[in-house]
Amino acid sequence: MKNIILIGFMGAGKSVVGTALSQITGLPLINLDTKIEEEIGMPIFHYFNEHGEEAFRKIEQELLEKYAQEEVILATGGGVVTIPANRAILKEHTTVLLTANPQVLIQRIRADKEHIRPLAVKSTDQELAKLLEQRANFYHESCKSIISTDDKTIQEVAREILKKLENPFDRV
Ligand code: S3P
Repeated sequence: MKNIILIGFMGAGKSVVGTALSQITGLPLINLDTKIEEEIGMPIFHYFNEHGEEAFRKIEQELLEKYAQEEVILATGGGVVTIPANRAILKEHTTVLLTANPQVLIQRIRADKEHIRPLAVKSTDQELAKLLEQRANFYHESCKSIISTDDKTIQEVAREILKKLENPFDRV
């Protein structure tokens, strides 16, 4: 296994689980949203407002292409699976989907005041649940392994991922 790519909806815990995986495996953590913000020189929220989602997705795609080649733990943004070329890249790698109960995801998204998500700000809870539903197939088709984070600590999720990746055919 060269790298681990974490995907999942906003609030699924990709960054925190990525940090734990990085500590356990010794592989560096790359957070795609952070790299995008370095590239655009402003918070994602402002970039969305000024340039729109399509421009954001172009940069996200370029950086996914770049970092998917590296030996790292790569935490992606929740919308990375919406682009077909990105899904093709994700399918070629050790991509792990983090899931959680939709209500829990929405609570986490609303409670996170540090990480303002443009798509969450303009959506009601119902619209967010719908967005998750719309993306569900994309998440599932892009991953090798699915891990539910419900009622688990970050460390438990990280250990479960590593254990599961030893048995790659045990998909669920
Ligand atoms: C997005 C998720 C965000 C960020 C951007 C768009 C999405 O990342 O990339 O706001 O479309 O779901 P997180 O999943 O880390 O919140």
